[in-house]
Amino acid sequence: MAGKIINLKLISLSFLILLVLFMNACKSDKKKPEKAKIEIVNYLEESKESFDQRMEWWRDDRFGMFIHWGVYAVPAGIYNNKEVKGDNGEWIMNNAQIPVKEYEKFAKQFDPVKFDANEWAKTMKDAGMKYVVITSKHHDGFGLWDSKVSDYDVVDFAPYGKDILKALSKACKEQGIKFGLYYSIIDWHHPEAQSINAPNYNDWEDLKANPKFPSYLENYMKPQLKELIKNYDPEIIWFDGEWIPDFTHEQGLELYQYVRSLKPSIIINNRVDKGRSGMQGMNKGDKKYAGDFGTPEQEILKTSSTLDWESCMTMNDTWGYKKNDHNWKSAQDLLHNLIDVTAKGGNYLLNVGPTAEGLIPAPSVERLNQIGQWLKINSKAIYGTEKLQNNYKQGDKIRFTKEKGSPIYFAIVMEKPDRTIILKNLKPKKDSKITLLGYENPLEWSFDKKEGLIIILPSKVLQTWSKDTYAWTFKITGDEI
Ligand code: GLC
Repeated sequence: MAGKIINLKLISLSFLILLVLFMNACKSDKKKPEKAKIEIVNYLEESKESFDQRMEWWRDDRFGMFIHWGVYAVPAGIYNNKEVKGDNGEWIMNNAQIPVKEYEKFAKQFDPVKFDANEWAKTMKDAGMKYVVITSKHHDGFGLWDSKVSDYDVVDFAPYGKDILKALSKACKEQGIKFGLYYSIIDWHHPEAQSINAPNYNDWEDLKANPKFPSYLENYMKPQLKELIKNYDPEIIWFDGEWIPDFTHEQGLELYQYVRSLKPSIIINNRVDKGRSGMQGMNKGDKKYAGDFGTPEQEILKTSSTLDWESCMTMNDTWGYKKNDHNWKSAQDLLHNLIDVTAKGGNYLLNVGPTAEGLIPAPSVERLNQIGQWLKINSKAIYGTEKLQNNYKQGDKIRFTKEKGSPIYFAIVMEKPDRTIILKNLKPKKDSKITLLGYENPLEWSFDKKEGLIIILPSKVLQTWSKDTYAWTFKITGDEI
């Protein structure tokens, strides 16, 4: 009997143990699907904090190099011995109505033997540029990297045979330059994209949408973007060509999600979607569009904006190299643009169009060096600054910036000043020093409510202003009034 009871007890005890084990197993079973669940992040609903964090380096860096480089550098603006109409050299396939097979012949000649990635990165660095955006693929569809999705690239199709993006991304990383990639949604070469409009690929009046475009987007664009992000780890993807009728707002939203999901910290311009309002580049206000910053093209916003923006601009009239475009803006104008953009809280993406041999044109390098010289002394007034609350300027020739989160203000004067400079919107802290960047001794100043801040320049300082002085920066610790 006793044995039976013990047996019974044992059986119920083991039953209890089994029950507990079973319940625990159920519990952990319940947990499992949660653990395995892939987190689906909606990148379009990002919090302000996370957006600000992601954009921080870009806002601080202010100044970048745009590079338009590809097969179009071979004809360099000339087709059948004739100068091709239209400013943009990279549009020659469209502007000269060159059939796909004919254009491919230029690709067969693309052999930039003088390309030196380290030299390019050094040019950026010397210019004070902090990031670069290069055309991985422009509208002509030709890739500057070894794509596994296509053979129409510099490694498989051109005599050069080397991966340009690989070399440049490496050189830029070594120099501390952030690497970004332009990618054209338009593709004049691809049969499922705009090649159906050949040889008038971008006829504004009569653009035909390719019914196969969704397949090109899924099976060509997306795999290429994945490749680019995986292989070259870019910080920026800069889309373009979003205006074609084939591409929709919904596809834009989805494309933004796709690229962010590949690299959550990446920054994407607003041409990923259909929101851009003309060349002024900021989004239309009718609905919410994807994209992290506006892209004014060849222009600077008239005033500042609450949104992030980057003005992209050429130094002459073309993006892609054209042998006969000598209409260069002066270094002074380009630098004044950078100052103006910075004061208005934007970024400046200044373009170079290298030659088919792989050289950045000498007039571009010269201007970049001149800008770099100025930045060596005045960098504090540009990088890591923010716009003022009230006035970003006084008259035409004075711009203001401010060190982020500090009471240090900069007044940048873009013409030779008189003996005194009078500033209406800044009140210096009592007994603080006012200096001219690049000149050691503090300057004499006085402040009075009616007149404002009066800074006095010694004549020996004034005499140092020469024709190569583009701007002077005054550093003032104080408050805005
Ligand atoms: C325009 C042009 C293109 C250029 C771009 C730069 O969209 O079509 O060639 O790359 O501007 O912003």
